[in-house]
Formats: sequence, C-alpha cells, structure tokens
Amino acid sequence: MTDIVVALRKITKTFPGIKANDGVDFELRKGEIHTLLGENGAGKSTLMNIIDGIYQPDSGEIEINGKKVHIKSPSDAMKNGIGMIHQHFMLVDSLTVLENVLLGLTSAGFYVDKKKVAAKITAISDRYNLGIDPFTKIWQLSVGEQQRVEVIKTLFRGAQILILDEPTAVLAPQEVEETFKIYRQMVQEGKSIIFISHKLNEIMDISDRITVLRKGKAIGTVDKDKTSEKDLAKMMVGREILFRLERGPLNRGEKILQVENVKALNDKGLTALNGITFDIYGGEIFGLAGIAGNGQKILSDVIAGLRKSISGSVYIDGKDLTNANPKEIFEQGLSYVPPDRLKVGLVPNLSSSDNAVLRHYNREPISRNTFINYTEVENYTDHLIKNYDIKVPRKDAPVKFLSGGNMQKLLLAREISEKPKLLVVVHPTRGLDIGAMEFIRTVLLRERDNGVAILLISEDLDEIFMISDRIGVIHDGRILDIVDIEQAKVERIGLLMAGLDEKSTQ
Ligand SMILES: Nc1ncnc2c1ncn2[C@@H]1O[C@H](COP(=O)(O)OP(=O)(O)O)[C@@H](O)[C@H]1O
Ligand SMILES: [Mg+2]
Repeated sequence: MTDIVVALRKITKTFPGIKANDGVDFELRKGEIHTLLGENGAGKSTLMNIIDGIYQPDSGEIEINGKKVHIKSPSDAMKNGIGMIHQHFMLVDSLTVLENVLLGLTSAGFYVDKKKVAAKITAISDRYNLGIDPFTKIWQLSVGEQQRVEVIKTLFRGAQILILDEPTAVLAPQEVEETFKIYRQMVQEGKSIIFISHKLNEIMDISDRITVLRKGKAIGTVDKDKTSEKDLAKMMVGREILFRLERGPLNRGEKILQVENVKALNDKGLTALNGITFDIYGGEIFGLAGIAGNGQKILSDVIAGLRKSISGSVYIDGKDLTNANPKEIFEQGLSYVPPDRLKVGLVPNLSSSDNAVLRHYNREPISRNTFINYTEVENYTDHLIKNYDIKVPRKDAPVKFLSGGNMQKLLLAREISEKPKLLVVVHPTRGLDIGAMEFIRTVLLRERDNGVAILLISEDLDEIFMISDRIGVIHDGRILDIVDIEQAKVERIGLLMAGLDEKSTQ
C-alpha cells in the first residue's frame, strides 16, 4: 500500500522556445501540505496545470493513488479527486456564489437542485469558517473572499487533493494566517494539499515538505524540519542570497523631505492621517513600517500630490509643496513607485518603450519640436532594459504581458533615471521572487549611496530592517516612534505596528 496520492514521473513539457518542465519527479503524500517553491518562470504553474488536465505533458507519467492515469481535462482531474485554484480566479463577477458553483456542475452533467446546492455551500462555508453566503454576487466580495469561493467550488465537487497556485500573493498578512488555518483543518481531515509560493517565511510556517523547482527542473525535496529559509533560498536561485545587504556608511546630506503635522482624510471622509511629522535627509533610507490600511498609502499619495491634505505641510528640498499638483512636485525632484504598478505606475496597454519614456516624452532628446524621435525612444528603452536586467520579450508588446518582477524593474528603472532628490517607493518588492527582490533592494541602496533621500513604505519587516537607516512605525494614521536602525528591535517594531506600545513621538 502506498500513501502517495499523486506521483509525477519524469514529466516534461515544452512550449515554443522553452522547456517549462524538464523531467520532473514529484510525490504528494496523503495528509501533507507539500509546497512547490521556485522563482517566477520556474515551471510551477505548468506542472500543476498538467495534474489538473489543462496541459498534456510531452512525456512522463502521472499516478493517482497508485494507479496510472491520463488526465485530459479539469473535469477529468475532478473525477480523480483533484481541484486546482488558479492564480487568476475563474469566477464570473456578475453571478452569485451559488451560480458560480452551479456553472461548473451543469457543464459537467450533474443533476442540480439549487436549494440543496445552496445548503451544501453554506455547510462547507460553516465547517471551515469561510463566511461565504451563497447568494452574494462575486463582485461584492474581496479578493480573499473570492479565493474562498474557489475553495468552496473544489470542495463541493469532492476534491481530496487541492492545488493552490500562489494563493497568498493576493492576501493581506492577516488573511494569510486565517487561510493557513483552513489548510491545516483540511489536511487534518485527510485531504492533501500542494501549495505554491515563493515567500520563504510562509513556506516555513505551513509546509510539511518542500520541493524546489528551478528552470523547469526539480532541484530536490526537503522536510520542513530539516531545512531553513537560507537553504531554501539557495536551492531556489542556485547561489547564496545576501540576507543582510551590504551598505556603505551613512552619509547624511541636506534635509530633502519635511512632513509637518499632516492630516488627511480617506475616500470615506474619515481621518486617515492624524498629524504626521517626520523628515528624510539625502543619502538615507527611511523605512516606514506598518500594517496595510494604517495610512501609509494616503501619506505617499499626499506627498506625491495625488491626494490633498486638510492641514499641515510638505516641503521638498526647502520648497513648500503642500497640496501642489503632481507635475510641480515631480519637477521639484520626486520620483514615485506606487503600490499599484498597473494602475498608477505603468499604462498596461502601452508598450515597454512607451512606458519607459512616459515621464519625459515631451523633453529632448526624445522629443524635438513636437516630433517624437523613435530612435531615441528605442535607445533609451534598450539602456533601461540592459542596466536593470529587465526581461522584455518584445519592446512593442503591451507592458501588461511582462511578469510582475519585470514590470517593477521597468517602473523603478524609469523613476530612478529621472535622477530624483526624493524617491518614494511603496511595497517595491511585493509579489516578486527572491532574485528580483534582491536586485531591487540593491538598486535602492545604490541610490541611497548616490545621495537620494528614500522613503520606503513596506509591510515586509525583513525588507525594512535589511535596508533602512531609520525606521518609523505608522499605526492608525500616526507615527508611533522613529528609531535608528542600530537601536531598532524587531519585536518592538512588530508591537508598534499592531499599536501595542505606549511610547509616542507625537
Ligand atoms: N501557455 C504557454 N505558452 C508559452 N509559454 C508558456 C506558457 N505557459 C508558461 N510558459 C512559459 O513556461 C515557463 C514556466 O512558466 P510557469 O509554469 O508559469 O512558471 P511559474 O508558475 O513557476 O512562474 C515560463 O518561461 C513561461 O513563460
Ligand atoms: Mg505560476
């Protein structure tokens, strides 16, 4: 008898020009959470799509519960007890949860009694504490809730083997913990889970075993208890990763950003910033730590002129730019890498070249007498692509087809090339793989050493500690404390982020 529920033997899958999976062996045991770890493009989704019947392998075999199978479609996979939750959800926004569950069923030829289906959805939701009402429309749900609807869909169909493709990439930190509770409950009941992620701390939290993929090949499978974040990172990228990045001595220049007692409201008209005061000097990275929703996004928008404050003032390089328009602020030397790359930072349907020159298409040498010099556009784009190691299949293809890491690199490349005095970056490495993270952090440190004043807003405490010179903690629209990196203790910063510490600078 075997406790192996899924076995992949020598799976190979080629796409035009790339071997996405190259002779991969993989085994999932009953009742385990087995993580598939790898950088973007390592072949994780392809391998899982093969188990789910979306792709057929070129060669290799699949065994489910010890029996060789051919999985020709997702409904075939479902018959084998396999359900996959994709990176991009497959829900219809305008329909209810119930209708979405039904949608798959009717096409799979089930007999359907709506009342019973609704009752069963409620039962599943209650059992796992998912808080999903069958009659809610999908568009009314948050991303996290939509993901739970996908979970309900697969459980409804009796999945015993769940494949979760980067579920936590779209979740806030608090949601991740809740989600992990659900996974733990499912495996306790004897279900088996393949979990995909490249966040090492999460992986060390939730996994029983971890298999690492690199460039289409399985590098190895390890027990969680016998490995470490450092070892995993090394397996993933094939070399040592610098967890503590080198930085030169602090060379403080002039005061560049001065924020004084700024108050601002959120979209609902409620107080979001309740008197924020801090400053940043040239040549330093000021890390603003905080849990999402405590005002950091509003603050960065106020600094960039994208949102008005109701009182207080903002100076950049000595000039009062309180509630000035973005153009004026950019001209005074601000570069801004917003959290939402595809909404604010880049124009998704424009090409990489167009996005690269977006900030200065009306300046020489790109533009002369209202004509755009396309050779200069090409040269400039090539220069960014080369210096920032951006992987762009075609410069004229819409930027929305780039991977997250490459979009972020393009955005950062463009903003830094503006030679800013002040660089504001929000969650600069969120959702990126470890190689791209390290690259971006190294670039930020280089700019610091070049004398730029940097405001780093991040939820990732490791990142904040890795590169900041000073750390401020924002909670509920106020900065609770500001400390030098040498004095900063990670436990205390964590408590402050949760609002659980007395000392306040204001
Ligand atoms: N449908 C497809 N057509 C062509 N190339 C693809 C397709 N799907 C994935 N690829 C390529 O295969 C490689 C592995 O991709 P993927 O499995 O999505 O990686 P991961 O999920 O680990 O980020 C990448 O180079 C990707 O561009
Ligand atoms: Mg993927």
